[in-house]
Amino acid sequence: EKKKSLAGKRMIVTAGATIEAIDPVRFISNHSSGKMGYALAGELAARGAEVTLVTGRTSLPTPPGVERVDVLSAAEMYDAATRAFEEADGAVMCAAVADYTPERASETKLRKGDGEMTLTLRRTRDIAAELGARKGGRLLVGFALETHDEQAHAEAKLTKKNFDFIVLNSLRDPGAGFRGDTNKVTLIDRAGREELPLLSKREVAARIVDKIETILK
Ligand code: PMT
Repeated sequence: EKKKSLAGKRMIVTAGATIEAIDPVRFISNHSSGKMGYALAGELAARGAEVTLVTGRTSLPTPPGVERVDVLSAAEMYDAATRAFEEADGAVMCAAVADYTPERASETKLRKGDGEMTLTLRRTRDIAAELGARKGGRLLVGFALETHDEQAHAEAKLTKKNFDFIVLNSLRDPGAGFRGDTNKVTLIDRAGREELPLLSKREVAARIVDKIETILK
């Protein structure tokens, strides 16, 4: 029986992939299943936090006690997350958010021709960086999904986005990252780093929430 160590705390978790429409039929997205973010939302709620889960499209059940806000695009996720942050004590940014979106989504299905086709993409807004800029005394935890120079990229994101700590996962590690039920992460803050072994996403979530508890105390 866990004691409700986070009772009275309001936390936001972003989870899953965003979907950027090209036309009514096609989109740009990524491989995030939502599993890591849902495990975090469930763990925070199990410890008594009031959790708002801002989620891209997934096939996962909503964890018990969690308020769920469904979004599709990075722009929708930005609106939902920045709104919920006003009343929150902290946020965990686990979603895989598109960095680019089609300049405009066609209202009708694009017809194919014989040649190549060029799509113009524009930058989306960075939700985590925006929350970092508005953070005040709140807690902000980020993720970094990397494929090379992992440590340096994660440390740059920690500083740039004003996170309290960042959870690094690398696609070079077997069993880490997208879709599976396990992850291998390193928790990095300004004081140092803690490398965890390969664990279930549930256990990884518990370790992350342990660190959140320590900071909130
Ligand atoms: O969902 P699963 O299948 O379980 O997979 C889990 C996961 C691999 C998606 C997860 O563990 C993870 O690493 N999530 C972050 C993925 C990511 O987009 O990382 P990034 O390094 O591109 O982004 C850095 C941070 O900024 C992240 O906290 C991200 O949520 C945030 N961000 C990025 C861009 C943007 N426009 N807005 C953001 O908030």
